[in-house]
Amino acid sequence: MPKRMKLLGLSGSLRAGSHNTAVLRAMTSLVPQGTTLTIHDWRDVPMFDADQLTNEPAPVKALKDAIAEADGVVIVSPEYNYSIPGPLKNALDWASRPGYQSVFKHKPVAVLGASPGVIGTARGQQHLKVVLMAMLAEIYPQPEICIGSVASRFDAEGKLQEATAELLSQMLEGFVAWAAR
Ligand SMILES: Cc1cc2nc3c(=O)[nH]c(=O)nc-3n(C[C@H](O)[C@H](O)[C@H](O)COP(=O)(O)O)c2cc1C
Repeated sequence: MPKRMKLLGLSGSLRAGSHNTAVLRAMTSLVPQGTTLTIHDWRDVPMFDADQLTNEPAPVKALKDAIAEADGVVIVSPEYNYSIPGPLKNALDWASRPGYQSVFKHKPVAVLGASPGVIGTARGQQHLKVVLMAMLAEIYPQPEICIGSVASRFDAEGKLQEATAELLSQMLEGFVAWAAR
């Protein structure tokens, strides 16, 4: 196990008031001792263009470097139309190159998500996991965390409620132990 596990957090939503980013932010203080979770802002990643792969745009390089340097990646994303939000899929497509040799190869990845509805992104998570499989990422198998009715998970001050925080804290502990194998 590395002396200090470095996790990278990616939110699937670019919205300022994003519930998923709020969950990810809360998770930064729920990681086990000796672990850090740093959120990477990938909003400047441009539309994928294979012609630019030989001269990658700076935000793409920054995203790929951040993934490469992390011991594990935590993706917290909404589902859009039962699937992966387009901007996130676009960023992942950039990070997936070169095919089968990308920064995601053998990278431990935890996928979770939050939505106002009851299903809590279960469908989108399945699609996201298939995409990560194509990149040869190591996907944390369980527990699967689908946070439904997300608005009710935060109190009036915007603090994540205890039960959800406890669930996430246990999940992070499991993920860190699994990623360190
Ligand atoms: C284009 C679009 C498609 C959506 N499709 C779904 C969906 O399939 N399932 C779902 O539960 N919510 C869907 N929603 C609602 C999102 O879950 C909701 O807007 C959520 O708050 C987005 O996450 P965020 O708060 O992190 O930005 C969709 C929202 C948008 C903008």
